[in-house]
Amino acid sequence: VLKLAAATEPAWADWAAGHRDEILLDHAHCEKKAAGAAVNLIFRHPERAGFLAPLSALAREELSHFEAMLRQLERLRIPFQRQRPGPYGGRLHALVRGRERERLLDTLLCCALIEARSCERLGLLADALDDAELAAFYRSLHAAEARHHRLYVDLAGEVAPSDELRARLAELADHEAEVLAETPPLPRLHGGGMRGG
Ligand SMILES: [Fe+2]
Ligand SMILES: [Fe+2]
Repeated sequence: VLKLAAATEPAWADWAAGHRDEILLDHAHCEKKAAGAAVNLIFRHPERAGFLAPLSALAREELSHFEAMLRQLERLRIPFQRQRPGPYGGRLHALVRGRERERLLDTLLCCALIEARSCERLGLLADALDDAELAAFYRSLHAAEARHHRLYVDLAGEVAPSDELRARLAELADHEAEVLAETPPLPRLHGGGMRGG
């Protein structure tokens, strides 16, 4: 079960599907960033032996998603290109605390929330996209992102006892929902709503 504080409005999916090319490009970037986040944690925490193999496997899986997205972009003749980052990631991470243990806990929980939001929205897109190949692919990704959400929560469980973990996850989930509510309506996997779209 995903620990999101607020669900995306169902109407988002049709709106996003109407901006298909931008959403797919953004999604390719998201898979690349997800791989990078896992690799960064390996670099920053070599002392955490229990983190290394699961995060390495996660990074490989995210890169395989990235490659699959590149193939979809090519099939649909959408050029991969540089993209200006949206405000979501920076604002979400603004609540990450400074001391090492808290920073690790918060970073893992932010990763868990990003995976949860991806999971939710890929599921919505799978139902809204009229391209059968893409819809089937998104359905398979939906399950993978739910698994990634759980992995990050499990890793956070090695950093903090369950009471502390649950309380902090709830705080950060509230923050994540606020960030999305305040994010301008961008056709992004982690963009805001539909106004003016
Ligand atoms: Fe992924
Ligand atoms: Fe993921």
